[in-house]
Amino acid sequence: MLEFPKDFYWGAATSAYQVEGNNTNSDWWQWEKSVGLEEVSGEACRHYQLFKEDFDLARSLSHNAHRLSIEWSRIEPQEGQFCEEELEHYIEVIKALKERRLEPIVTLHHFTTPVWFAQLGGWQSKKGVALFLRYIEKVIIALSRNVRFWVTINEPIVYIYFSYILGQWPPQVMSFPAARQVEKNLISCHIKAYRLIHDIYKRNNLIEPSVSIAHNMQAFVPCSHNLKNILATYLRDRIYNFSLVENLIRHRSLDFIGINYYNRSLVDVEKWRFKNLLMDVCRHGHSKLPKNFLGWDIYPEGLFTLLIKLKKYKLPVFIMENGICTEDDNLRWGFIREHLESLNLAIKKGVRVLGYIYWSLLDNFEWDKGFTPRFGLIEVDYSNFRRTVRDSARRYAEVCKSNKLI
Ligand code: BGC
Repeated sequence: MLEFPKDFYWGAATSAYQVEGNNTNSDWWQWEKSVGLEEVSGEACRHYQLFKEDFDLARSLSHNAHRLSIEWSRIEPQEGQFCEEELEHYIEVIKALKERRLEPIVTLHHFTTPVWFAQLGGWQSKKGVALFLRYIEKVIIALSRNVRFWVTINEPIVYIYFSYILGQWPPQVMSFPAARQVEKNLISCHIKAYRLIHDIYKRNNLIEPSVSIAHNMQAFVPCSHNLKNILATYLRDRIYNFSLVENLIRHRSLDFIGINYYNRSLVDVEKWRFKNLLMDVCRHGHSKLPKNFLGWDIYPEGLFTLLIKLKKYKLPVFIMENGICTEDDNLRWGFIREHLESLNLAIKKGVRVLGYIYWSLLDNFEWDKGFTPRFGLIEVDYSNFRRTVRDSARRYAEVCKSNKLI
């Protein structure tokens, strides 16, 4: 039997665009239509209407925390025009969480921006930082009384990689200089947002908030142990996993380290070129690990290794996302169980962990992959929006309830 620390947070996450539906003023909405994506987000899970029922389910599954995001394009559909009704909506959402004793963890940017912001140059524009701060100030003031945990930006590196390097997500730019500029702006957003949140709480005599990012980390492992692969693994570990964390710590802008962990990346470099060292992965099917529906390697020991490496920063860690898309619910439970075992081992080795948030509470819109990958603890039937609690959710609920893994 494995025990978890007292007052541990247990829950699941969603993001606004992926579950709410009809986010018509968002850059993703426009982009889906313009590229003719096979499955567009449409009504998504109708969570905008059904949030209370969804939170009832989370509570019935013994969760005591819930991570969600705010859709900027609802709050500020046109530049400088803030929508009170939408702010009111999120105040209601947070209230609904508190009423069910679910600790809200609020993300301010989860991949999407308003259309007008994208048209002004989005994150490549220097104005972006000030515009973001103006939007979040409204949100923080509105929600601060009921929110303790804030995540400023979800997975900045993943976002930059898909949107500005691979050019797969909007705004589909493929440029290293653009990616660098966006990185600079997002980091600056985070640091300024961190200070702003703390200032607002101080000004209003509120209990100190806890602010971080949700940083995606991967377990990089060399495919074969040649010099190229070993060097590439080292570089990626540094650049992808740790440099952002170190930078934000240097700026004293993390109260805890929020991490999202999903998979292993098997490093296999073809050429001695910087680009290959940073990007090549094994394409020869050498990975024998079980995989999720999207083909990602399932590698629970990676979570342990990363947590141990984070120990030296002497900050608590919060697992902001960990999850699997699969049609096989037994595999889902196996995934959760093994990752919790890894997490527990890291805790025993002295890593301070505040909580574990599964991705996701509901099946949802998996960005350019549409609705087919099923990450949810709760199944969504998209023909009638009916929810069905999966068996894995019940097994996870036993852990949440007892604070133990048996
Ligand atoms: C993102 C989620 C996404 C999940 C599964 C994370 O990178 O934060 O939005 O759905 O991974 O791909």
